[in-house]
Amino acid sequence: MPDPIKWEDGSLYLLDQRRIPFEVEYLKCTNYQDVAEAIEKMIVRGAPAIGIAAAYGIVLASHGGLPMVKEAVSRLSKTRPTAVNLFWALEKMERAATDFHDATAKDPGLILKDHLLEVAVDIHEEERRIEKLIALHGQSIVPPNCQVLTHCNAGALATGGIGTALGVIRMAQKIGKAIKVYCDETRPLLQGARLSSWELWMDGLDVTVICDDMAAFLMKKGKVDLVIVGADRIASNGDTANKIGTYNLAVLCKYHGIPFYVAAPRSTIDCSIKDGEAVPIEERDPDEVRTVRGVKIFLEDIPAWNPAFDVTPGDLISGIITEAGILKAPYRESIETAMRIDVNF
Ligand code: MRU
Repeated sequence: MPDPIKWEDGSLYLLDQRRIPFEVEYLKCTNYQDVAEAIEKMIVRGAPAIGIAAAYGIVLASHGGLPMVKEAVSRLSKTRPTAVNLFWALEKMERAATDFHDATAKDPGLILKDHLLEVAVDIHEEERRIEKLIALHGQSIVPPNCQVLTHCNAGALATGGIGTALGVIRMAQKIGKAIKVYCDETRPLLQGARLSSWELWMDGLDVTVICDDMAAFLMKKGKVDLVIVGADRIASNGDTANKIGTYNLAVLCKYHGIPFYVAAPRSTIDCSIKDGEAVPIEERDPDEVRTVRGVKIFLEDIPAWNPAFDVTPGDLISGIITEAGILKAPYRESIETAMRIDVNF
């Protein structure tokens, strides 16, 4: 499985996820502007991965000292609005750069770039450890024989580790559970068809792609025991923003009596917002709806709407799998407690 994010010889290399699965190519980023463009164009995508890439983007601005770090934070924070991990990582990097000034007063030999690189690598490595914990906690909700449906890509490509939703699935297979996975194709950009199916297939999982509009019938046929998805931002009441189409699945699960779980690190929880109404939803170019892999499918003159995310109300969610355990409703309380737990590695 190629690493989606690599730091090598002072540059950042991002796997171009727009080309997967047909081409495996990396884009070299030598400055923060390159990283910002890569996030906007979705060369790198997925909530945790965006945060990690942005952290390395700040390292690439460090030669200009604190003023350039601030400039980079401002540019990178304008790339994609929904995934809170981006802002979480930028805040950590900016704080590290600011604190560095106090440290240099004591030891003038310190170098800002070395310090920021350490913090970025920490963010990257911590994410890997957290995903293993999420995968382990998640096992209690995966039966030994299980047909799982997932949406978009909450896998290794989206995170830097084994993935969140797909990490739970990978771990289940690893410990001997019989898992069959269905991937929603995930229009308009097809992250499920192109990315999730590829990842899981390479890991030897039994995986089948369905069109988004087939999920209800699949459930009706008794072929879904469990739905697990990732998240881009979770409000303090458990309302969860994730890839457009996630909400549909949660409603379908309620009707069919199927458990619907979200898997996400705590860096995806935004305690500053009281509910999902406050999540900024990214609206992307309508041409993404008008085309499939560059081929026009309806007339340009016809309007198209392209919200990249939707919000699933907390009361449709059976549980939120985090590194601090599986959170259950009422989410205000369980989230508050989870945020206080010190997960010691
Ligand atoms: O627009 P994308 O591809 O960045 O959206 C990604 C998702 O919605 C994922 O499900 C989410 O970021 C979780 S990734 C662990």
